[in-house]
Amino acid sequence: MKQRIAILGSTGSIGVNTLDVIALHPERFEVFALTASRNVERMHAQCCQFKPRFAVMVDAAGARDLAQRCRASGLSVEVLAGAPALSELAQHPDVDTVMAAIVGAAGLAPCLAAAHSGKRLLLANKEALVVGGTLFMDAVHTGGATLLPIDSEHSAIFQSLPPDPATWNALVDKLILTASGGPFRTRDPQTLADVTPEQACAHPNWVMGRKISVDSASMMNKALEVIEARFLFGIAPQRIEVIIHPQSVIHSMVQFVDHSVVAQLGTPDMRAPIAYGLAWPHRIRSGAAAIDFGQLTALSFESVDSALHRQRYPGLALAWRALESKAGSTAVLNAANEVAVESFLNGQLRFDHIAVVNAETMDRTHFAVPDALPALLELDLQARAVAHAVVRRLAP
Ligand SMILES: NC(=O)c1ccc[n+]([C@@H]2O[C@H](COP(=O)([O-])OP(=O)(O)OC[C@H]3O[C@@H](n4cnc5c(N)ncnc54)[C@H](OP(=O)(O)O)[C@@H]3O)[C@@H](O)[C@H]2O)c1
Repeated sequence: MKQRIAILGSTGSIGVNTLDVIALHPERFEVFALTASRNVERMHAQCCQFKPRFAVMVDAAGARDLAQRCRASGLSVEVLAGAPALSELAQHPDVDTVMAAIVGAAGLAPCLAAAHSGKRLLLANKEALVVGGTLFMDAVHTGGATLLPIDSEHSAIFQSLPPDPATWNALVDKLILTASGGPFRTRDPQTLADVTPEQACAHPNWVMGRKISVDSASMMNKALEVIEARFLFGIAPQRIEVIIHPQSVIHSMVQFVDHSVVAQLGTPDMRAPIAYGLAWPHRIRSGAAAIDFGQLTALSFESVDSALHRQRYPGLALAWRALESKAGSTAVLNAANEVAVESFLNGQLRFDHIAVVNAETMDRTHFAVPDALPALLELDLQARAVAHAVVRRLAP
């Protein structure tokens, strides 16, 4: 039986890489559904190649345009419109596996739908877990879903841990997340006010969507990953560490109580963790190049705790602050960061003010601990309103 897959966010960087891996294994996988926000052209091309049963455009005009193009191409794909269709397909009885590759908190509701209905859930959409926190993990457990991390760091940790999650807390001394340091690792922090969106999106090792590229440059991506690791692996925040490793060859490590360290290595290519998630507990070809150890002259590391790096990446510490505050604080941090990054990309905020917006939004958002999805979505909106106010005050 082929694994039937719904790819949420198929037109993005992770979505395209997922389809690349699937195309290598037509005997194993069937594309059941594809979804996008508004990129009709790419979605139409994907429908022509993979012939899914359903395609979703969140944007209604985009859905009409797609339906027309699909009819003209003689495709029998059913085109749906609007955000509710994402959750509908994520829990569709004919879907085995959901690849969660939407960017931002917009992916939370369909992730929860997939978790509640017991799917195999491949999670790239880290913001969904950062916002959902224990509510997300509870849905995975009660729904009987299989949650597999796609972020290269979390895939590396998952591959380095023993198979039984019940042993992790006792065996693990710390989780060590590696970070490339992004495009500004050696830049004078005093000049970060002048950074342009193009410079921030030019990652030295990875090709990714614009939001995660900016997050990598500010190190907010690593902050979100620390939170993601805490919820995924149930390890206390004080036992999660970040180390800069500019070559992005070691994707992350686990240090055990005997101080042995197990690491996972590979070339920086998201097709490797995607193939691992698709095939787990087996392995399949990913299309990623192999490491050429003869050419690998150095694997180097830098502490994130140097005074210069603390100045360069002020947002990183907010991960521990959010995790040590009451439940819901990670959702506030995520909402602030989404607003700040969008404002930066639109030219309304300086790059070095992203961390200021995030910290101030955490200071100024007062809330009761959210007990369910509606309260969480309400908190997300509240924090966004606070963040917008901070952005307006800081506007250049
Ligand atoms: N890229 C990487 O290498 C990488 C690595 C690790 C983790 N991740 C994580 O994976 C997720 C996706 O990242 P990405 O780089 O692939 O992002 P991306 O290239 O920006 O793609 C985002 C996808 O989500 C869709 N989308 C955007 N806003 C949406 C909304 N409001 N509702 C529904 N769909 C929406 C986009 O559709 P349109 O194309 O129509 O806009 C696109 O298909 C992020 O959470 C990121 O942190 C990415």
